Amino acid sequence: MFRRAVAAALAATALTGTATAQKAGPGQNCPKDAPCCGLYMDCGVGAFCVQGCDPVHSHSLEACLPNPQCKSGDFKLNSLDDVQSIDKYLGDASKVNWVSQGKPVVFEDSILLTMAEGTVGTLLSSAHYIWYGKICARMTTSQGKGVVTAFIMMSDAKDEIDFEWVGVDIANVQSNYYSQGVTVYTNSRNLSIPGGNSVEQEHEYCIDWKPDTLTWAIDGKELRTVNRKDTWNSTSNRFDYPQTPSRIMLSLWPAGLPTNAKGTIDWAGGEIDWNSPYMSNGYYYAQIKSVSVECYDPPSGAKGKGQKSYVYTDRAATNNTVELSDKQVILGSLYATGEDPQEGASTASNAPKPTKSVNLVPGGNPGGGGRGDGADSSDPAATDAPDGQGAGGGNNGGNNGFSQNDGKGAGTSLQPGLGKVGGGAVAIVVAVLGLIVL
Ligand SMILES: *[C@@H]1O[C@H](CO)[C@@H](O)[C@H](O)[C@H]1NC(C)=O
Ligand SMILES: *[C@@H]1O[C@H](CO)[C@@H](O)[C@H](O)[C@H]1NC(C)=O
Ligand SMILES: *[C@@H]1O[C@H](CO)[C@@H](O)[C@H](O)[C@H]1NC(C)=O
Repeated sequence: MFRRAVAAALAATALTGTATAQKAGPGQNCPKDAPCCGLYMDCGVGAFCVQGCDPVHSHSLEACLPNPQCKSGDFKLNSLDDVQSIDKYLGDASKVNWVSQGKPVVFEDSILLTMAEGTVGTLLSSAHYIWYGKICARMTTSQGKGVVTAFIMMSDAKDEIDFEWVGVDIANVQSNYYSQGVTVYTNSRNLSIPGGNSVEQEHEYCIDWKPDTLTWAIDGKELRTVNRKDTWNSTSNRFDYPQTPSRIMLSLWPAGLPTNAKGTIDWAGGEIDWNSPYMSNGYYYAQIKSVSVECYDPPSGAKGKGQKSYVYTDRAATNNTVELSDKQVILGSLYATGEDPQEGASTASNAPKPTKSVNLVPGGNPGGGGRGDGADSSDPAATDAPDGQGAGGGNNGGNNGFSQNDGKGAGTSLQPGLGKVGGGAVAIVVAVLGLIVL
């Protein structure tokens, strides 16, 4: 559900100060002056080209930066030292492991993803991509109507593997997977959480993603497996199985905004209450303790021998069109693209500053004004975005969308308080992403 909701939430947050949104869609790729297609099918430059840049709908395969290869590790998420805001991250994964949208807050040896009223929540995504591996997160979730916590894997071609917690059901988590952004909600399965409480009790949630099998586990217990061989789709003539390099995304997002599609709101248990006892310090929050990544060897049949990046060689975006490469590209500025990586770089200080009006960052350009209460959103296309995928009728609406604002001005309260919600609860202020996910 990620995508749909995100797009909607983004719309609600308003791309203040940005250009007219250009959208890509089936058979319509992004134009040369805004060549990179983001997670929500909007076109831009800068951060649009760095992460989540869709090779299928961008202007060219070169527009999107190569995806940094997998890095194994046990990442303690207990400070923001290893986290860079999306409007600062230009693609150098050797400098930082996590990229944020919205308002992550450090609290007691963990990072809180926060969501305050008027924001689209917070998204943390890995700078490195994973092309098969075992990914585990130790975390607790948020709670309340319309509030969705997510731990997902998302490829630039929109293959997706999900754990999603809807805030009205703290005893279960929904598992799902999608191929190339086709949201088949019937793939969803509820998994019950040992002990029955995702909010008060920390658990370890794992995605074990291999070329032929995909397994979801909680606290070491395997609860669901999908076999690639069972996912053949004779209409599209391919396996509807996640098969392209993916980033980790951890998010908290407002599925229950009145501006979202009804299916999304219903799926999430209703509209969000912004005076909820589940909030603390003015925000909802989910707490991430650590994330571990074990990279598996790349598929033996893969093209190339490079050790730095994954590169798409064809818009088909199937596993046999991903090459192991040594190519690395880091943008010179937020005005640059993979096609023109030095555009706007400060070395040419006497050169005129770019004046084009174009989207630089999914969810809103930096400095583009506050947190966006939705007041300025007037892009009808964006508002309708949810319908693009799915399931006619949208019984389930959602995508995993997280939308995040740029977080600026998102409130004042950055000090996590001791939650009213029990134990180590914390809260925070939020902002959201526009991209993602989902
Ligand atoms: C999962 O549980 C929710 C209630 O929490 C329910 O609405 C939904 O239909 C269930 N989905 C499946 C696939 O069983
Ligand atoms: C098969 O792929 C088509 C085209 O992408 C999609 O519309 C359809 O929902 C898929 N079928 C199933 C059963 O997933
Ligand atoms: C794509 O995946 C299938 C199933 O695992 C495998 O048989 C095939 O070799 C893979 N191709 C490449 C190039 O990795």
